Amino acid sequence: MLEGKKILVTGVATNDSIAYATAIAARSLGADVFVSAFPRDVDSVRELMGDDFHVVGADLTKEDDLDTLHRTIDSRWGSLDGALHAVAFAPRDALAGDFLATPSASVEIAMRTSAWSYAALARVLQELAPPSGGSLVGLDFDAGDRAWPIYNWMGVCKAALRSVSKYVARDLGAAGIRSNLVAAGPLSTRAALGIPNFSLLTEAWDTTSPLAWSSTDASPVADVVCFLLSDFARAITGELLHVDGGYHAMARTRSEQGGSAGL
Ligand SMILES: NC(=O)c1ccc[n+]([C@@H]2O[C@H](COP(=O)([O-])OP(=O)(O)OC[C@H]3O[C@@H](n4cnc5c(N)ncnc54)[C@H](O)[C@@H]3O)[C@@H](O)[C@H]2O)c1
Repeated sequence: MLEGKKILVTGVATNDSIAYATAIAARSLGADVFVSAFPRDVDSVRELMGDDFHVVGADLTKEDDLDTLHRTIDSRWGSLDGALHAVAFAPRDALAGDFLATPSASVEIAMRTSAWSYAALARVLQELAPPSGGSLVGLDFDAGDRAWPIYNWMGVCKAALRSVSKYVARDLGAAGIRSNLVAAGPLSTRAALGIPNFSLLTEAWDTTSPLAWSSTDASPVADVVCFLLSDFARAITGELLHVDGGYHAMARTRSEQGGSAGL
């Protein structure tokens, strides 16, 4: 499905990362994969990925690192067909507690890392994509239009990310570059485990998702990311695809739904 494609996968931290699952899936589907990791993680990520992957360190909130990422890919490959944005961060005081008392500095870093960097990555892809176009995919948690007991400013960042993705779709469509998000169900990654009371989310899925959902298996999300990176999705842009076991479509828990759903 991705034979001959040159793909950048950002956001690998550990072998639990959605980005890790995507890098492995994309490679197995024939892609050449460049991996980027937060600079602090680059040595451990090189060890994790082995020789089949190029690994580069980049802080996606920093213009200099984005330039270096661009130049490194350009000198190695000369072009880029697609990228996964799998990057988010918010300081702890922006993820839980008193929403209204969150320091503005925490909100700013969360927004820059989790929403603005998607547009920054779109710029890198725009400059490197071949005339046939490209595909950018980001990762949402389906929180953008609802308030949860936790998640706080990250929920706001995800709402912003949804909007950014649509503006990217608007501006890069003429160049054949697509922009789509995958809204994943909860997965026990390093970022997720930094969210206080993350188990509230996995418990919500346990009671409500119509399909069984495993918070330790990122492969269903990775597979859909690969689809969106591929030419099979060539007419899809500005879209948000849920890969969450159907949780988003349910109004009540399975037991409240009654009938065979509640069995
Ligand atoms: N885990 C979940 O339940 C879940 C659900 C839906 C969406 N997501 C989203 O998936 C994406 C990937 O997260 P994950 O759950 O795989 O966790 P993860 O911790 O494995 O990945 C998050 C990555 O963001 C990177 N990062 C943070 N700040 C950065 C910066 N300034 N520059 C570059 N990289 C930076 C981290 O180093 C890490 O590699 C995030 O956007 C997250 O919000 C996660």
